[in-house]
Amino acid sequence: YTAPRFTLDEVELDAEPSGLSPSQDRRGLTTGTGPSSDAAVFNLDLDYSDDDALLDWEQYAGLRRFRCCGREWTLPSWARPRPPDWWWTYTKRQRRLLLSGAACCLTFILLIAALAAAAASGHSILPGLIGRGDAEYCAWVEPRLPPGIVPRRYALTLGTKMAAPYAVEGSLTIDLNVTKAARCVVLHAASGLGIQGVWLGNGTGGAQGELRDRPGHQQLVLQFPSTLQPGEGNSLHFRFAYNLSEGLSGSSYTLGAETHSLATTQFEATSARSAFPCFDEPALKAVFVLTVEAPATYTVLSNMPASAVHHHHEEGEGHGPALASWHFPPTPPMSTYLLAIVIGELAGTSRLVPGATAGADPRNVTVWGTPDRRASLEFAADIASKVLPAYEAAFGVPYSMPKLDLVAIPDFSAGAMENWGLILYRETALLTSPTSSLADRRWVAKVVAHEMAHMWFGDLVTMEWWGELWLNEGFASYLEFLGAQAASPELDIFLSFYTDVLPDALEEDSLNSSHPLSIPQGMGCGGFSRRMTGVNTSERIESLFDSIEYNKGAAVLRMLRAWVNRGAGLGALEAAAGINPAQDPFLAGLQAYLNLGAYNATTGSELWRALAGPLGLPDLPKRMRAWTYQQGYPLVRVSLDEGGRVWLQQSRFGIAGVTPCDSTAAFWLPVALATADTPTGKPTWTEFSGCQSAAPVLQNAASAGTWVKANAGQYGFFRVQYDEALWARLVAAAPTLPPTDLAGLLEDSWALAEAGELGIDTFLNLVGSLAARSPEDYEPWAAALPYLERVAQLAPCSTLWQNYLAQTLFNTFLRQDAGGQANTSTAPPPLAFSFDAPSPEGAGVGQRLLRPAILAAAGRYGHLAITAQALELVPNLTASSVDPDARSALLATAVRAGHRDVLVWAWLGRKWRPVSEKLGGGNEGARRMGSLLESVASLFSNQTAIPEVEAVFAASRGVVTEGIYLERARETIETNAVWVTAHGSKLCTWAAQHAKLKP
Ligand code: BES
Ligand code: ZN
Repeated sequence: YTAPRFTLDEVELDAEPSGLSPSQDRRGLTTGTGPSSDAAVFNLDLDYSDDDALLDWEQYAGLRRFRCCGREWTLPSWARPRPPDWWWTYTKRQRRLLLSGAACCLTFILLIAALAAAAASGHSILPGLIGRGDAEYCAWVEPRLPPGIVPRRYALTLGTKMAAPYAVEGSLTIDLNVTKAARCVVLHAASGLGIQGVWLGNGTGGAQGELRDRPGHQQLVLQFPSTLQPGEGNSLHFRFAYNLSEGLSGSSYTLGAETHSLATTQFEATSARSAFPCFDEPALKAVFVLTVEAPATYTVLSNMPASAVHHHHEEGEGHGPALASWHFPPTPPMSTYLLAIVIGELAGTSRLVPGATAGADPRNVTVWGTPDRRASLEFAADIASKVLPAYEAAFGVPYSMPKLDLVAIPDFSAGAMENWGLILYRETALLTSPTSSLADRRWVAKVVAHEMAHMWFGDLVTMEWWGELWLNEGFASYLEFLGAQAASPELDIFLSFYTDVLPDALEEDSLNSSHPLSIPQGMGCGGFSRRMTGVNTSERIESLFDSIEYNKGAAVLRMLRAWVNRGAGLGALEAAAGINPAQDPFLAGLQAYLNLGAYNATTGSELWRALAGPLGLPDLPKRMRAWTYQQGYPLVRVSLDEGGRVWLQQSRFGIAGVTPCDSTAAFWLPVALATADTPTGKPTWTEFSGCQSAAPVLQNAASAGTWVKANAGQYGFFRVQYDEALWARLVAAAPTLPPTDLAGLLEDSWALAEAGELGIDTFLNLVGSLAARSPEDYEPWAAALPYLERVAQLAPCSTLWQNYLAQTLFNTFLRQDAGGQANTSTAPPPLAFSFDAPSPEGAGVGQRLLRPAILAAAGRYGHLAITAQALELVPNLTASSVDPDARSALLATAVRAGHRDVLVWAWLGRKWRPVSEKLGGGNEGARRMGSLLESVASLFSNQTAIPEVEAVFAASRGVVTEGIYLERARETIETNAVWVTAHGSKLCTWAAQHAKLKP
C-alpha cells in the first residue's frame, strides 16, 4: 500500500491474547512476537479501520473480566469461550455479521418450532405449510434438492431434427425411490425445456401433476392429487420439446462446399437439466436407458454401445426422410452430468484392448472425428489403448464400461469432457498430424490420460458435492501424468509436473481470495459470505473449476505419494515402470478408495480414511486435515544454529505477507532435505506438524559451502525460506543444482520478494546462474521466464531490463558451446539454438521444449540475431523447413507487437460485449470472460487503476456473475503496486551492474 503509515512503538499489553493471535491479521497489525509472549509490539496503522480488525481488545478484556457482587472477577481459562479456528479467519465486522445472522437463524428456528408444536397439538396455524408430511417439499426453497425422493432409473427417448428447425422432442420416465411420503416432487429443469405434461405412474394414464417453476434454482415442483408412498413403485412420466441448441450444443462444420451439422451434450456441471428434467446433483446416481432418433445417415454415440438400430421413415413405411432409432442398454448407476450423446457423421479408428482380468472380454477403444480428420486419429488411439491397461494395473479395478469412445468435436465448448465411456474433446486436444510439435503431442497425451483417469476418479467414484470437486479434478490432474508416462515414456511427461502444475496453484492459493480444496456445504440461512454459503449456484459451481481444485489437488496427492514412497528414491516412482501397486502403498490405497466408493459418491474425509490402512498411517485424516479444509499453505523456514544444526519452522505464506504460526492451524509437513553430500534423488526425509521441528533435522551443516536445499525435488506444496547465509550458499551452488530444485528456488525467491520477505537480488542472482545451464535444463528456465516477463511489465527501467535479458542473459546462454561452457572469446560464436536448425541429434525432451520457449523470449526482448532470423524466415513459415517445435515461437517473434496494458484494457473495456460473444455463452463463456478480464486487469501495477477495473467488471455484470475474478484482480494489482515500491529501484541498479550491452 502507498497509504501513509504511522507507527506506535512498544504498546505494552497487560495480557497475552491466548488463541487470539494478533498475527492473524493480514493487513494492518503486525507483531514482532509470537502469540505466546506476554508483551506484544504493534505497529498500528492509523489508516486501518477497527471494524476490519480481527481483534477487539475491549471485547476480549470484557470476556475475561466481569463485575459481580461489587467486585471484578477474572474468568479462569477453562471457562473462556473457545470458538473454533475458522472463527478467527473473519474480521470483526464479519464476525459481528455472523453473530447477528446466527441470532436471526435461531429466532427463525424457534418460531418454526413453535408453529410446528402448535400444529402437532391440533392448532394448525398455517394450514398447507406446516402439519402435513409432504408440505415442506411443496414449498421447497433450498437450492439443493430434498432428500426423501431420489431417482433410480431414467428411460429417456429423444427425437432429434438435425436440420432446420433443429428441434428435440422428448419423453422420459423416471423410476423413483421414495423414502418419505410426499405429495410434491422437486427436481431440476431449465426454463428452456418446454414441458408439455407430467404424470405420476408409467405412460400418460396416471394422475397428471401440476407444475410450479423455481426459475432461480432451475427447479420444478410437481404437485400431485395423491401422495407418493414410500417404496420403489412410483414413477414420473414427462413429455417435452425444445430447440436443439437449448439442451444439446449443435455445431456445424464445412466439408468442401457442404455444411454438416453435429450435436453433442456437455452437461457438466449443471446442464443436464437443460436437456431433460432430472435430479441434477452428482450424488444422485441412477441407471440411464436411452433411445435416440436421428436421420439415418448419422452415427449416434452414447455412454454405452448401441444394442439395436431400427431404420424407419418419418411418415410411415417408405415415406418421408429415412430415420434410425438407436437403442442403448442400461448404464451402470451414474451421475446426470456424465450422460452423453453425440449425433454426427463420424469416422473412427479402433483398437481392441484385452480385458484386465482373466476371461474378461476385450474392449474396443475407438477414436472418432469428422470424416476429414480420419488420418489424425492414430496417435490418440495408440495413447488411449495403452493408458487403459496401465490404469487398470495401477488402480487394480477394471474399467467399468464395455467400450470407450473418444471423439474430436469441432468447436467443443470445454477443453475435454469425461462422460463415462464417451469422452469428448476439442479437436486440438485429440488430433495430431505428422508435423505436430512435441508440445502438441504431449498435450494430446495428457488430455487423453486426464479424461481417462476420470473413468475411475469422477465417473465410478464421484464427489458427493461440487464443493469437493478436487476429488475429481485433482485426481485426474495428477493421474494424467501417470497415464501419459506409461503410454509414452519418450514424452518424459513428469519433466514438467513442477512447472505446469505448481506455480499457478501456489500463486492462486497465496491470495486471500483463495479457498480450501474441500469447501464445506454452507450453514443454511443463506450464509453471510462467499466462504460460508457453500457451493450452491451454477455460477459458483462453474467458478470452482480453478487452479486450486486441479493443481493444488494434484500437488497434494503427489506430495503424499512421495512421502509414503520415500524409501524408493524419488525418480523411480515416476519412471515408466513406476506403476506397481504391490510396492506402492499409495496405489494400493487408491484401490481401497475405489472399492469403497464404486458407483457411489464420496467426500475428502472418506478418501483419507480409505487410504489410512494401506498407507500404514492411521492418523492420515488428521495429517491431511489442514491440507483439505484450510486455504493457503505453509512457509517452511530453514535455519542454522551456532552448532551447525538445521531446524525447521512453519508459518503461513500469503502474498500480502507471512503470518506467524498458529499451532492449532499448522500443517503436517513432509520435508525432503538435500545437501551437497546427499546423492541426487536420495534426500533425507523428515516430517513435523507443529510450529517447529521437535529436534534438529540435520547436524553438521555449518561448514561453509555445505548447501541445504529443503523440498528437494519440489514434491511438497509449500514454499521455503532460508537464513541469509543458507541463501548465499544456495545461490553459489545454483549453476550445478538439480534443475527442478533450481526451478523451485527461483519460484520461492520471487514469491518471497513479492511478500516482502526477501530482497529481489536473491531472485536476480539465481536468474543470472541460468546463463551457464545445460540446454537440457528446461525447468529452471520455464520457472523463470514468466517472472522475467512480469519484471519487464513492472520495472521502472523496462528498456534496461529487456536489454539485460536479451543482450546478456540470453545471449550468453544461446552462445555457450555444446559442452555447456559460456564462451569468452570476442567473436560471437554461433547460436546454440536457432529457428532454422532442427533440434540437434540426440536432443532430449528438455532441450526440445526449452528451445522454442527461449527463442520466443529472446525475440520478445529484442535479441538482435534472433529477431533478424525470425524476420528472414517468416515468409517460409508454412514450409516444412521450419521445425514444428519452433514454429509458433517464430511467428510470435515476427509479429512481436509490444503490448501495453493500458491500451489492451481500454480496448477490452469498450469491446467486452463482442469479446464475450466470441468466448461463447452460458456458464462456460462467463467463466472464460471472467478470467480474461482478470488476467488483463492483473497487468496493472498502480492502485489508481482499480476503480477503472471495477467499472469494466460492473459493466459486464450480465456476463461475469462471479465476483471471484474481480477479487483476484484487485489483489494482484495491489501486490504489483507493493512490488514496484519495494523492489523497483534495486532491480534497476542490479540490471545496470549486470548488463553487458553488446549485441
Ligand atoms: N471435467 C472437466 C471438464 C469441465 C471443465 C466441465 C469445466 C465443466 C467445467 C474435464 O475433465 C477437464 O478438466 N477438462 C479440461 C481440460 C483438461 C485436460 C485439464 C478443460 O476443459 O479445460
Ligand atoms: Zn478433468
